Amino acid sequence: MRKKIVAGNWKMNKNLAETNALLSDLKTKISSSSKAEIIVAPTFVNLSNAVEKLEGTEVKVAAQNMHQAENGAFTGEISADMLKGIGVETVILGHSERRAYFGETDQLLVDKVDTALKHNMSVIFCFGEELQDRKSDNHFSVVESQLQNGLFHINSESWDSIVLAYEPVWAIGTGETASPEQAQEMHAFIRNTIAKAYTQDIADKVSILYGGSVKPNNAEEIFAKQDVDGGLIGGASLDVDSFVAIASAV
Ligand code: PGA
Repeated sequence: MRKKIVAGNWKMNKNLAETNALLSDLKTKISSSSKAEIIVAPTFVNLSNAVEKLEGTEVKVAAQNMHQAENGAFTGEISADMLKGIGVETVILGHSERRAYFGETDQLLVDKVDTALKHNMSVIFCFGEELQDRKSDNHFSVVESQLQNGLFHINSESWDSIVLAYEPVWAIGTGETASPEQAQEMHAFIRNTIAKAYTQDIADKVSILYGGSVKPNNAEEIFAKQDVDGGLIGGASLDVDSFVAIASAV
């Protein structure tokens, strides 16, 4: 059985006091009977605190990004070793906001993925088409090339450390969600693409999350689809009741 995962990407939100409030609320409300693995990704400055606060719970902490180099003169950046050093074992890479606003390319992501894997970290690898790609019916080829160019250099064993997050850019933070059928269609395509490039076994085992305006009122029907193994949640993860409701919808 594939692992079900619900991850909250808090983006550049919540200062320390707000982060602590959110974490303690989450600790009280998250049900240990949730079928999903729960992950939260606070900002870099609050990661250490989150690891500490969530100790003894099942909730994991992820970073939202990471630099590809081991260390050195990269002002303002954070390395894999630094994340590991504070107990962060998972990193989100390739989020569409990183690609769009910070110029992250497939080639850069190759390096980031390699560094994360070298440090035995798990990677939540994000990708997805823009609106014009979908309108021009190019969404499958865009997604295929993002996977091929950013991820398909890894060896078969490394897939154990990979979680995929399909996030159509037009659905992120817009209130516009892919329909459950659109999500399923793309997730099945992604799995098939992996099966062709690697093996059916690897394709069957990898968790593929959907992200883009997932809310308590649409989570259940999206998560019910066969190839959707949970979600990467932005806006709705900042409200504990919404996030917990989404986590229970898996
Ligand atoms: P959203 O963000 O849920 O606010 O659309 C999803 C994401 O960016 O991961």
